[in-house]
Amino acid sequence: MALSNSDKIKQLVSAQQQGFSLGQAFYKDVDVYHGEINNIFLKHWLFAGHVSQIPSVGDYFTFEFDTESVIVVRTPAGEVKAHMNVCRHRGSRICLEQSGSQKSLTCPYHAWSYNLDGELISARNMPDDFARSENGLHKVKVELLGGLIFVCLSETPPSLAALRQDLKQIFELFGMSTMKLAEQKSYRIPANWKLAVENYQECYHCAPSHQEFAQIHVMAKSPKVFQTAKENFSQANQGNPKFIELNRYFDLAEEGQEGYQYDRNPLLRNALSGSLGGKTVAPLLGSLQEYDGGASELMIGPLSYFLIYDDHMLSYRFLPTSVDECICDVSWFVNESAVQGQDYQLDQLTWLWDVTTQADKTIIRNNQKGVDSRFYQPGRLSEMESFQQSFLNWYLQALVLPSHIWLVQQQD
Ligand code: FES
Ligand SMILES: [Fe+2]
Repeated sequence: MALSNSDKIKQLVSAQQQGFSLGQAFYKDVDVYHGEINNIFLKHWLFAGHVSQIPSVGDYFTFEFDTESVIVVRTPAGEVKAHMNVCRHRGSRICLEQSGSQKSLTCPYHAWSYNLDGELISARNMPDDFARSENGLHKVKVELLGGLIFVCLSETPPSLAALRQDLKQIFELFGMSTMKLAEQKSYRIPANWKLAVENYQECYHCAPSHQEFAQIHVMAKSPKVFQTAKENFSQANQGNPKFIELNRYFDLAEEGQEGYQYDRNPLLRNALSGSLGGKTVAPLLGSLQEYDGGASELMIGPLSYFLIYDDHMLSYRFLPTSVDECICDVSWFVNESAVQGQDYQLDQLTWLWDVTTQADKTIIRNNQKGVDSRFYQPGRLSEMESFQQSFLNWYLQALVLPSHIWLVQQQD
């Protein structure tokens, strides 16, 4: 008798060896991919965008992964709401553009029209017994975290209460809710999404692959050098609220809370920002008064990453379009009062991470090509890939869990 999908996935998970890269099926098998969509992407909070992208009533953008599309919109009451981009008539996509501004949301197929709150307001020539009130757009849960818009497609999303409390000061310090989006770039990568996430989570490849990045970021060095530099940096900045350390990324299972992590790392060679030569590239963020020569790493949920320099912030996310393709979206944020061309130049602001992400795109594509080979077998991870290993442990358990409850225990 053939194995059910869930039995097949369970077998794959239990055959996976600690300390090794994933087996080939995890990167190629469509049943695994569907399991990931159900257990990870549909159950967790995902970074959709920032409030500065929809300042006025009717402004919207779409957020997409796999087969799903969500409309994130500013309503007449000034709220941010999210609806599935699926018409309740015969299912057409409603918003076809990635962003725009509309008084109402009208389906391009037969012109059913919804207000910005998602209620159906007109549908022509429908039978008398048709109930408009029962045909509003499917609602999507949405939460604002310091101006960052997160959506969750589950009816019962993980709680954000602990995260909100712990990160409040960080959101305020960097002026997260009053930043503005300066630039957004999407990199389409012909590889399974996990190869992109794993690559982002380890800096074993930084020294050989990212010359520009390695000149500025200490994590490209050996774990020992990195740890010493980090400890010295924290010591020198004791009491500074920017230097709190929160590590609740993979271990919030039993409380049903979404995971998060925050820490601050030193930059190299007196660099002040993530830029060519470490030079400043924009006015300081939020209420910051000076540069400290560091950068903060913030992770919210399992799949949304933020890198905060003193004068700009980047967001990173990796969204699958299918089992063998993903999109890496990178956004650059600056102080809301900064004027482009005057206070910052886009090419200077985006240079480091554009060049780094272009290089990553090539690395990840080549990784997938090798993983596709009949000769691929899981390889041993280095000690510079420990965070990747933590992610893999979490991932493997999330894949077989019946709910969003996280039960990962870190391996020593
Ligand atoms: S599918 Fe949208 S109006 Fe018919
Ligand atoms: Fe990289």
